[in-house]
Amino acid sequence: MGKTVLITGASSGIGYELAKLFATDGYHLVLVAKNEPRLFLIADELATTFHVSVIPLGQDLTEAQAANHIFARLQQEAITIDILVNNAGIGIYGAFAETDLMKELEVMQVNIVALTALTKLFLQEMLKRGKGKILNVASTAAFESGPFVAVYFATKAYVLSFSEALTEELRETGITVTTLCPGPTDTNFLKQAGVPSIGVVRNATMKASRVAMLGYCGLLTGKLRVVPGLVNQLFLLAIKLAPRRWSTWFVGLLQRSRYDIKLPLKPYKPLLSAYPKTDDTIKSKQLKS
Ligand SMILES: NC(=O)c1ccc[n+]([C@@H]2O[C@H](COP(=O)([O-])OP(=O)(O)OC[C@H]3O[C@@H](n4cnc5c(N)ncnc54)[C@H](OP(=O)(O)O)[C@@H]3O)[C@@H](O)[C@H]2O)c1
Repeated sequence: MGKTVLITGASSGIGYELAKLFATDGYHLVLVAKNEPRLFLIADELATTFHVSVIPLGQDLTEAQAANHIFARLQQEAITIDILVNNAGIGIYGAFAETDLMKELEVMQVNIVALTALTKLFLQEMLKRGKGKILNVASTAAFESGPFVAVYFATKAYVLSFSEALTEELRETGITVTTLCPGPTDTNFLKQAGVPSIGVVRNATMKASRVAMLGYCGLLTGKLRVVPGLVNQLFLLAIKLAPRRWSTWFVGLLQRSRYDIKLPLKPYKPLLSAYPKTDDTIKSKQLKS
C-alpha cells in the first residue's frame, strides 16, 4: 500500500504540477479544489496515466468548516494522509481603501484559516503515527510588506511564520514542515487576483513545473524553506539588506507597474524623509538637541 498525499489547490498551477510529481513517484492522491468538474477531469487523467488512486474532493476553502469537512470525509473512508500540501491560495490587488472587504476576508479564510485548520487536524494524526510531512506554500511576499497587495502579503507572512514555528515545535517528532516561497510564477493566479498585467516582473516569472519540482525535492528532503530561482533569492537578499521602509516603497512601485493605481505616486525623495516620523523618533531628536 503506497503513501497518500493531500494537495489543496490541485486543479491548476503549482498544485497541479505537484500532483503530477507525486503521482509519478507512485503516491496516491487526494486532490482538493473548488472547481469540481476540472478536478474530476484531472483525477481521471492522473489515475489513468500513473496508475495511482486519486480522490477528487470538491471543497470551497472559503467555507468556515471546510477543513473539518475534508478531514471527516477522509476519516469516514479510513484514508491516512502521509503528506499534506497546503497549496491553495488566492490574492486580491488594489488600494486597500478601495478593495472589496468580503473578497479580502475570503483571501484570509483560504490562505490562513483553512491552511491552519488542515494542518492542525492532519498533524495530530501524523503525531500519533510518529511520521509525516507538510508543505505549506507561502511566497516571496512573506518577507515584505506589499502596498496595493497588503492583505495577500500579510497572509503569506503568516504562512511563513506559522510554518517555521511548527518546524521548531516538531523537531525530533519525525514530522517535517517545509515552506515553499515562490516568486512570480506563470499560473492563473494573477488573473484570478484581478491583475491586468504582470508588469516589470515578467522576465523573472518561473514555470509552475519548475517551482513545483523544487518544492517537491525540498519537502522530501525535509528542508525548512525553499525559495525557487536565483532571481527570487537575490530579491530576498536585497530586501534583507535594505531598510524595511525602502523595500516597502520598492514593492509598492513594482505593484503600481502592474496596473493603473489611482492614488498619486509620491516621488522617492529619499525615503528617509518620505515617511511620517513616529513619536519615538521625534522624542529622541528632541533629547539630542
Ligand atoms: N503564481 C504566482 O505568481 C505565485 C507566487 C507566489 C506564491 N504563489 C502561491 O502558490 C499557490 C498556488 O497558486 P498558483 O500560482 O498555482 O495559482 P492557481 O493556478 O490560481 O491555483 C490556485 C489553486 O487554488 C485553488 N483555490 C482557489 N480558491 C479556492 C477555494 N476557495 N477553495 C478551494 N480551492 C481554491 C484553485 O482551485 P479552483 O480553480 O477550483 O478555485 C487552484 O487549484 C498559492 O498559495 C499562491 O499564493 C503563487
